[in-house]
Amino acid sequence: MNETMDSAKAEAFAGRMMFLLNEAFLGILVSIGHQTKLFDVMRELPAATSAAIATAAGLQERYVREWLGGMVVGRIVLYDPGAQTYWLPAEHAAFLTRAAGANNFAFFTQYLRLASSVEGDVLRAFREGGGVAYDKYPDFQRLQGEESARLYDGLLLPAILPMAVGLGQRLEAGLDVIDLGTGQGHAVNVMARAFPKSRFLGLDFSAGGIQAARAEASSWQLANARFEVADTTATLPGQFDLVTAFDVIHDLAKPQVVLANIARALKPGGVFLMMDMAASSRLEENLTHPAGPMMYAASVMHCMTVSLAQEGEGLGAMWGEQTAQDYLRKAGFADVQVHHLEGDPMHAFYVAQV
Ligand SMILES: C[S@@+](CC[C@H](N)C(=O)[O-])C[C@H]1O[C@@H](n2cnc3c(N)ncnc32)[C@H](O)[C@@H]1O
Repeated sequence: MNETMDSAKAEAFAGRMMFLLNEAFLGILVSIGHQTKLFDVMRELPAATSAAIATAAGLQERYVREWLGGMVVGRIVLYDPGAQTYWLPAEHAAFLTRAAGANNFAFFTQYLRLASSVEGDVLRAFREGGGVAYDKYPDFQRLQGEESARLYDGLLLPAILPMAVGLGQRLEAGLDVIDLGTGQGHAVNVMARAFPKSRFLGLDFSAGGIQAARAEASSWQLANARFEVADTTATLPGQFDLVTAFDVIHDLAKPQVVLANIARALKPGGVFLMMDMAASSRLEENLTHPAGPMMYAASVMHCMTVSLAQEGEGLGAMWGEQTAQDYLRKAGFADVQVHHLEGDPMHAFYVAQV
């Protein structure tokens, strides 16, 4: 028993915990709303009854009505008790629907399901060590692919590549490019389509990811994009003008080995473009990170544990910019510039040269 406990602070914290419970469960309902397309349907409807909404969405009315109850008390959907109609305000639809594009926060709540599905395995790792292997996350490549496509479609060509001065012109002239941990390869395909004189290779040890990458390249009829299933810990297959790693290095079992391989595989004047999580390596500086708890949770439930599952370093998503710069320098990069995208608190971009 703590005699000096401040009862006002304790009461405030209890209120915060109640808030947390409500918001956490609301997140599950928001994920359901995204996956059933209920938000998209409601965006198109005027104030409507649960029956009308269920019919428009092709769903069971009883489930839709209970879900709407949660949405109303969660202050996401408005309710007219007289008419018993529900309405999604435009200001909320702007952050909940597929039409919202990169602003669709409902998309991210699907990661709650991914995290919950491995909770038992992560608990075991807390007790026994080790980690949770990639094959325990069957939905990961699809979700990650969808998430990152939203970034690459809008910003890769106009905002991310120009962080390396002159890179766009050099890509137009023709470069050899390799993308490590390419996932579903969308970044490679977007670049290959824009720069037909450059040659692109995407590597990932996820066969499912590579299959999706090849399918997209073939549907876009890209002759300059190749994809291979490979472990990036091995020496890179050749010399390259540009090496990219988007949201990959902190997940690796052996990030220092891979960074040194990259430095060795760059042709003279070559560039390494690394996208990773924006964070400080000092915990106390992450108190104001707008997605701090979410990122540490993502790290425990995925990024850190997939690395530890391979007896890896377990860097974690929040290794931070100071450590990243330190790793890059130790790998042989003498020139490291760090960039951020305006309005994107999640990512840091490193343009590194040996
Ligand atoms: C967070 S995902 C990012 C995927 C992709 N770059 C994107 O932006 O959508 C990290 C990727 O790294 C891959 N990966 C992790 N370790 C790897 C390794 N040692 N060799 C090859 N791929 C690896 C995973 O399979 C996964 O596709």
